[in-house]
Amino acid sequence: MFARSILRGARTVSTVGRSTRFARPFASNTGSVTDTRPREAGLVSKSEVPAVSYADGEVQRTTLSIDEKIEATEVGADKVTPLSREVYNKMTPSLQRMSIMDKVVIITGGARGLGNHMARSCIEAGAKAMIIFDANPELGVQSAAELHEATGSKIPVEFFGIDIRNATAVENALAAVIQKHGVPDVLINSAGIADSNIPAETYDHDMWRRLIDINLSGSFFVAQTVGKAMIAAGKPGSIILVASMSGSIVNYPQEQSCYNASKAGVIQLGKSLAAEWAKYNIRVNCISPGYMDTALNNVPALDAQKVIWKSMTPQGRLGAVDDLNGVAVFLASDASAFMTGSNLIIDGGYTLY
Ligand SMILES: NC(=O)c1ccc[n+]([C@@H]2O[C@H](COP(=O)([O-])OP(=O)(O)OC[C@H]3O[C@@H](n4cnc5c(N)ncnc54)[C@H](O)[C@@H]3O)[C@@H](O)[C@H]2O)c1
Repeated sequence: MFARSILRGARTVSTVGRSTRFARPFASNTGSVTDTRPREAGLVSKSEVPAVSYADGEVQRTTLSIDEKIEATEVGADKVTPLSREVYNKMTPSLQRMSIMDKVVIITGGARGLGNHMARSCIEAGAKAMIIFDANPELGVQSAAELHEATGSKIPVEFFGIDIRNATAVENALAAVIQKHGVPDVLINSAGIADSNIPAETYDHDMWRRLIDINLSGSFFVAQTVGKAMIAAGKPGSIILVASMSGSIVNYPQEQSCYNASKAGVIQLGKSLAAEWAKYNIRVNCISPGYMDTALNNVPALDAQKVIWKSMTPQGRLGAVDDLNGVAVFLASDASAFMTGSNLIIDGGYTLY
């Protein structure tokens, strides 16, 4: 838990002076304002904060007064703080463009993992409604309920139990979403599966077809359905396809030709849609994660390989489950307005070697 405060009404209490080289630390320099009152738990005390800045050989001392008490914001897995209109209005234009205020977002595969965490960050960045499409009904219902509750019941969260391979189910679900929330502004397709450690020479054909169908055909069906609705409504939109670094490199040591081929297909699909739909003001970009620490990789058979993956990653770790959040919000926001057809590799440096 940490406290957020609003620092207001900065007033200069000491004028600009010279000789900063000999200035003592500001605590002893200002000789003032030490709030010794006990702090109320979870609240920011009304106080004054001495500050000093050194620039161009000059010193400027300032006192910042905190003129209101703000409830401390608890940030954690169980709390999602929606971006309020009040806070949005105080943001600078650059930060407003980096938000997704009032946008309706669909996230496939949002019942858990990377999709679920991107959903959380989209709400914190201003999304006004969150819609999850996922093939796991029990987890989906539970996740939607938890997410809604985590927002203090402020943001509507809807769950549709659909398999993205089923284009008709996707169309029906989207029709229901449009009826209630209008045409969505953002689609993030995170649903996907992985099969690893299968040599190409013995790859079972049904398994091959299943994976391609989910990762590639499913990405297309969802993007096509949402894109069609955006085009019909004349609405600009952002479509984000979660691909993988495996779409650009071949992983080591595990053999997984089908997964790699599926994600290469997703990247090329993203570029193709971006080129076709730019005229409709619809942007399509890919996020390509490296090795992430999610349930997808949480299988004992991969434990030994994880050690190798980390050793081959310059940052020396797997990605955290929320490590895509910032880039997802950026791609969904107007801050990336001139960006389409890109593939952002977020891998702790793995593909550098
Ligand atoms: N975890 C990684 O290391 C990693 C690395 C690169 C790319 N990715 C990609 O990121 C995406 C999310 O991965 P994750 O680690 O969060 O996985 P995850 O298994 O934790 O979550 C995936 C979600 O997608 C859902 N899903 C699976 N098949 C579906 C289908 N046919 N229709 C609808 N929903 C379906 C699952 O029910 C699950 O909730 C996937 O596309 C994956 O390929 C993951």
